[in-house]
Amino acid sequence: MKRRTHTCGELTAKEIGKRVVLQGWVGSRRDLGGLIFLGLRDRFGITQVVINPATAPKEIVVLAEGVRYEYVLEIEGVVAMRPEGQENQKMATGEIEISVDSLTVLNAAKPQPFVVEDDTDASEDVRLKYRYLDLRRPKLQNILALRHKTAQVIRNYLTESGFMEIETPVLTKSTPEGARDYLVPSRISRGKFYALPQSPQIFKQLLMVAGCDRYFQIVKCFRDEDLRADRQPEFTQVDVEASFFDREHMFEIMEGLFSKVFREIKHVELKLPFERMTYHEAMLRYGSDRPDRRFALELCTLTDAFRGAGFKAFASIVEAGGAVMGLNAGSHELSRKEIEGLEGVAKSLGAKGLAWIKVGAEGWSGTIAKFLSDDEKKKIAATAHLKDGDTLLMVADAHHDYACNALGGVRLAIGKKFNLIDESKIDIFWLVDFPLLEWSGDEHRHMAVHHPFTAPTPEDIAMLDTDPGKVRSLAYDVVLNGSEVGGGSIRIHDQALQSRIFKILGIADEEARLKFGFLLDALEFGAPPHGGIALGLDRLIMLLTGTDSIRDVIAFPKTASAADLMAECPSEVSKAQLDELGISLK
Ligand code: AMO
Repeated sequence: MKRRTHTCGELTAKEIGKRVVLQGWVGSRRDLGGLIFLGLRDRFGITQVVINPATAPKEIVVLAEGVRYEYVLEIEGVVAMRPEGQENQKMATGEIEISVDSLTVLNAAKPQPFVVEDDTDASEDVRLKYRYLDLRRPKLQNILALRHKTAQVIRNYLTESGFMEIETPVLTKSTPEGARDYLVPSRISRGKFYALPQSPQIFKQLLMVAGCDRYFQIVKCFRDEDLRADRQPEFTQVDVEASFFDREHMFEIMEGLFSKVFREIKHVELKLPFERMTYHEAMLRYGSDRPDRRFALELCTLTDAFRGAGFKAFASIVEAGGAVMGLNAGSHELSRKEIEGLEGVAKSLGAKGLAWIKVGAEGWSGTIAKFLSDDEKKKIAATAHLKDGDTLLMVADAHHDYACNALGGVRLAIGKKFNLIDESKIDIFWLVDFPLLEWSGDEHRHMAVHHPFTAPTPEDIAMLDTDPGKVRSLAYDVVLNGSEVGGGSIRIHDQALQSRIFKILGIADEEARLKFGFLLDALEFGAPPHGGIALGLDRLIMLLTGTDSIRDVIAFPKTASAADLMAECPSEVSKAQLDELGISLK
């Protein structure tokens, strides 16, 4: 094998007449009037090479005739201008071709289960089974390259800002992010388990107690939860923690990070500082704690309009302190079937149903129109700004935020269905003032909205005992185009306040000691005020590349059922392995 002189993505008219050596895969082949054209591909691009029987040695022509898709070749030849009219403007190497006089087959390839090209109709299962072939597609190569570059920009930025990359354990104890843990049995301590970290949360706080001052890590996290289009069981965080930082300082550093990433990767200047929106406002207007604000549709509050109204189902919810939320979907044509589809969305988010009204030329129609008096209709029309032809969708619930959230899902479905989302917009902002606690009806106790180490907003601490549900926290999320790309908080660094929060969360002292004793101990040895954030790197790359599947941005992803189709795992293990661990299967 020779050493190549160029990659397959770099030759242009500047190199005309030069002798070059290229290596790569056969991505295309055409035989035209005796000439053999091959598209030689590597991760840098594709170069057209031509074997001309009139000029090339006979044995080379014979070899070239036997070459098939995905063979690995080394070719040598001279860079030539393509004949007039045959240039390809879309290719970086589209002006030239290589006139080949030497060819070596470095390796043959079996016929592939699918053609390696961007425009593939192969099913995702087949692509994932042969992921190494799938990854040869230029689209995925470009995503991997952009992911690398983004990680590099982030590493450099944080390093220049005084952050130090420190690794934390993967075999550890259960962490507090609230998902199910992946467990690893211990052989040496039979009957005991490690948990894979849901995040390095506790360790990064310990690093602050250890005086590391500014930490970051680009790190794998593991969560055994139901998967969605933007969730994987193992995913990557840009994890950050800093001492002697308040929220403002954290925002400044992270805004600097995002603007550098967008400048260097997308050549776009972000407007600084980022806007801030409170959790309350986001729920009220968009029905979501990660609102997609690239389209204008907003919710309205119909609670007062339904107070004492003829439609008893809603009136009684209002009477009991609940809320009725509405969404004026405008004059977009929605068939009954489509409304049923939207009701499915609302129900999947916990709503009991989706009521609707349509304002037609002959008056109001829809599920609840006949129960409403003219006066009530007037109030509703005024609040929801109803015009002729509009459809109003409504959800009522005992919990205000639940009604908002369900309708928020409907809003998003409508935005997608009618192409209302302006894909050219970049909308990035901070979501702030989350509630510290949420009530769990199932567990009959308050749960931490973020995690139990999140600090309450100082002016709300007095309400911890009297009205804990109203206490806001110093947690924040960064929302980019309707996706939560990061979240973090200022932490509690005071042991007494931490104990108080555990009590409110119904975590007994003993349990707290068992779970996070080492962190509680550390807090008593001079913990500095500190806070942090973690960005979802996979989600950020999805947004930067415009792909809607998280699997496209991960080299070897899992399916929606958390399986690796290529390695065929999870898989059974031998009885001997289980015996060694002292485990028997039920
Ligand atoms: P959080 O749980 O919000 O915070 O996670 C931070 C970010 O990680 C991304 N993310 C995911 N990405 C892909 N697949 C998943 N299953 C998944 N789960 C989360 C999201 C999210 O915003 N320790 C805290 C951070 C802190 O407080 O500093 C934490 O892990 O983009």
